[in-house]
Amino acid sequence: MLNPWGLFLCQLAINTSYHVIKASLCLGGSDIFATVSENRPVGEFIANLSIVGDPTGINSIRLCLTGENANWFYLEGRTIRLNSSILRVLDRERQGSVLMAALTCYEDDIIQSEYRVMVEILNENDNKPRFLEKTIQPRYISELTAVNSVVFTVKAIDADGDTITYIIDRASPDASYFRIDLPNSGKVILDKPLDYETKTKLQLVIYAVETNTKEWYNTSASLIVNVEDGDDHYPQFLPCTPISQDHNHTVVCTNPIYVVNITEKDQDMLLNFSPGPIHAEDGDRSLDTPLLYSILSGADKNRFQIDNQTAEITMTKRVENRHMTPIFRLRIMASQLNDPKKYSVATALVRVLAENRFPPLFNRTTYKGFIIESSSPATLVSTYGNEVLFIQAIDQDFVDGVNPKMHYSLQPTRATTGLYHITEEGVIIAKTDRLRSFDRLILEVVAMDEESGEVAKASVDIELLQRSQPIPWTSFRDMDVRIAGGIMGGILLLLVTTLFLLIRWAKRRRRRQRQKPSGRGAVALGKHLKVIEDDLW
Ligand SMILES: *[C@@H]1O[C@H](CO)[C@@H](O)[C@H](O)[C@H]1NC(C)=O
Ligand SMILES: *[C@@H]1O[C@H](CO)[C@@H](O)[C@H](O)[C@H]1NC(C)=O
Ligand SMILES: *[C@@H]1O[C@H](CO)[C@@H](O)[C@H](O)[C@H]1NC(C)=O
Ligand SMILES: *[C@@H]1O[C@H](CO)[C@@H](O)[C@H](O)[C@H]1NC(C)=O
Ligand SMILES: *[C@@H]1O[C@H](CO)[C@@H](O)[C@H](O)[C@H]1NC(C)=O
Ligand SMILES: *[C@@H]1O[C@H](CO)[C@@H](O)[C@H](O)[C@H]1NC(C)=O
Repeated sequence: MLNPWGLFLCQLAINTSYHVIKASLCLGGSDIFATVSENRPVGEFIANLSIVGDPTGINSIRLCLTGENANWFYLEGRTIRLNSSILRVLDRERQGSVLMAALTCYEDDIIQSEYRVMVEILNENDNKPRFLEKTIQPRYISELTAVNSVVFTVKAIDADGDTITYIIDRASPDASYFRIDLPNSGKVILDKPLDYETKTKLQLVIYAVETNTKEWYNTSASLIVNVEDGDDHYPQFLPCTPISQDHNHTVVCTNPIYVVNITEKDQDMLLNFSPGPIHAEDGDRSLDTPLLYSILSGADKNRFQIDNQTAEITMTKRVENRHMTPIFRLRIMASQLNDPKKYSVATALVRVLAENRFPPLFNRTTYKGFIIESSSPATLVSTYGNEVLFIQAIDQDFVDGVNPKMHYSLQPTRATTGLYHITEEGVIIAKTDRLRSFDRLILEVVAMDEESGEVAKASVDIELLQRSQPIPWTSFRDMDVRIAGGIMGGILLLLVTTLFLLIRWAKRRRRRQRQKPSGRGAVALGKHLKVIEDDLW
């Protein structure tokens, strides 16, 4: 038992705390097992020694504390106390759970006994949970993430080792998107679908709460969840016309119809569609995947070709006969390069119009004519040259100046509405039986090229001659009277129809005498149809 080096070791140990007590005996002691709570103040009682020797006696015994944690203790008589200070607080989380030292008792500088001192540090809840920083960093999740799947896991630790429960603060802005099924796991689950197009950033507050302590300390973390665009939208031709919004505020819209007008002479040209240019966009704004364009139908044996990247449509062959193919209906497809199953189809119309370089023109600003008062329900307005008055606009796009799509109408006025009518041939019919006596009347005639929409205007100065007045003789008047007499009892409509037929006949005769009609475009082609047809004649 006697260790000759004991004194030497005890005295040499620099950090050793020791206390010298005069005592008669070192015997009667035992190993000391005690507990102390962390965070206790200096002088906290740890244990009484059971050594027989009287610490206040004259005969000296000497007690010496050595070992790793000896400086956490000091001796006060036969009591071991805690050596802490404001700067050195006993912290179980830092120090570990046990303090160990050895107590040696010397009598006349000879070691008489040695005891172990083991002090367990009792835990106090002196720490809050703390989130691991890397588990609460901003997150990036795809909008295609399945509902009910775990989107991320948060983790908090508590230095006191307390059990932690994770709770989503339902008051945080986007709490409704998430839930936690297993409160201790920290696994955050997606509770409803994400949509990048409506919301790209979600905010969420999560609490980590101690559940096994009376303090229920908690800590919170604010998380940012960035929604990433997934490929969930189809391409869309622009401009798109919104038709509705679904409950997620996603706009549903229809593709436009692209239209272009061309003429028979156009060829090898880039078609300039309206609304234009033809363009589609990936519905997933941020992905903006490249699209590939193609003509699904209507290409007419490569007459129309599309640039698969720019959607520019070129016409490579000219349209020979616009009457055969007045319109081409192209179905244009835009599909995602990376996923051809995602596509959209729009219609492009190519209308073949007659070439139109000249507007219609009246060769006079005012035409003059007359009618004779009669009881006839319909009379044609005549010229003073004893002919039917033809008011026709000339369209120089046509060799003979006659545009078959020319439409004539009268500018309605209160005095004339219902009393006058102009035919498609430019002949004015008056309902003579309903005319009240007057001397003169000016009518406005409007000629409109129905294909181009261009108009020309002229006035017609009509004189009403009394039956008794000396009248310029016209063969047409006689004819009118005869016709009118024949169907006096019949309905007016029938009469007018008959008149039209008659006029057409008269006009055809007139034309035949002049020349054969020829199509528009002949001028542009440089071929004089008249010549060709005359040759054939
Ligand atoms: C320790 O000893 C002191 C006197 O020496 C006594 O007052 C105290 O009650 C003792 N404590 C214990 C827990 O035995
Ligand atoms: C008490 O602790 C301090 C350090 O905070 C140390 O310097 C001192 O020696 C210790 N006292 C004893 C008696 O061990
Ligand atoms: C967190 O602690 C604060 C007080 O420290 C308390 O008001 C709040 O209700 C606690 N939150 C939760 C979720 O326990
Ligand atoms: C797009 O068109 C070019 C020629 O214009 C062709 O070389 C290329 O293969 C086409 N791309 C696809 C994906 O069809
Ligand atoms: C005006 O045009 C008509 C045909 O519409 C023609 O008969 C007439 O001679 C022309 N008059 C003049 C002055 O050019
Ligand atoms: C095509 O011509 C029609 C008239 O026939 C016109 O109403 C339309 O505005 C024209 N469209 C374009 C794109 O020029």
